[in-house]
Amino acid sequence: MARLTPDNEQRARELISLYPYARSALIPILHVLQEQDGHLSEDGMGHVAELLDLSTAEVRGTATFYDMFHFEPVGKYLVAICTNIACMLQGAYRLVEHAEGRLGVAPGGTTEDGMFTLEDAECLALCGNAPCVTVNWRFFGDVDPESFDQLIEDLRAGRLDDEIPLHGTLSRVRRVTAGAGNTAAREAQPNVELGTSRTMPAVASLNAGHLDGQQ
Ligand code: FES
Repeated sequence: MARLTPDNEQRARELISLYPYARSALIPILHVLQEQDGHLSEDGMGHVAELLDLSTAEVRGTATFYDMFHFEPVGKYLVAICTNIACMLQGAYRLVEHAEGRLGVAPGGTTEDGMFTLEDAECLALCGNAPCVTVNWRFFGDVDPESFDQLIEDLRAGRLDDEIPLHGTLSRVRRVTAGAGNTAAREAQPNVELGTSRTMPAVASLNAGHLDGQQ
């Protein structure tokens, strides 16, 4: 896949209509592109540039600032283990070592079957439940080697398919804009269900509120 599909191009146009300046929609549209392909391809970024009347270099230059975007294919599940201070003190390094052994790849690597990309991450803002892991941006707290293995098993077996969307997308935490006087934006915005977190049910709601405020 390279350029945005017709449906996703339509979503991009809807996003553009939410902003006074088209280029302001760049980051949300890049998330749509990443949701589609799992990473940002050159052709895809070229298409986004066309839609926003920017150069591909401007799109790439902005996208490469953010470590949530990937420029090479990643696994179906992006597994990020926080190794910042709170998680480190609660055994994150041991967990990373365990994950390396379990998945057979070092951080930055993708398993041969394309199922998992392992990453170490800076603080994921779930310090109260350290050590913390995200899978495609869904949170799992208080993870130890045993629960990590269970998580991987559940993912492999497809038991979390309803809970964890493909490709590290943020789409399921997007929801209707709640701002007063923004009816057009509310109607234009895709209404997608919220994600959930098995170990931290409040986290998805917190995230949704956070994004709600941004969009
Ligand atoms: S230090 Fe790991 S979530 Fe904050």
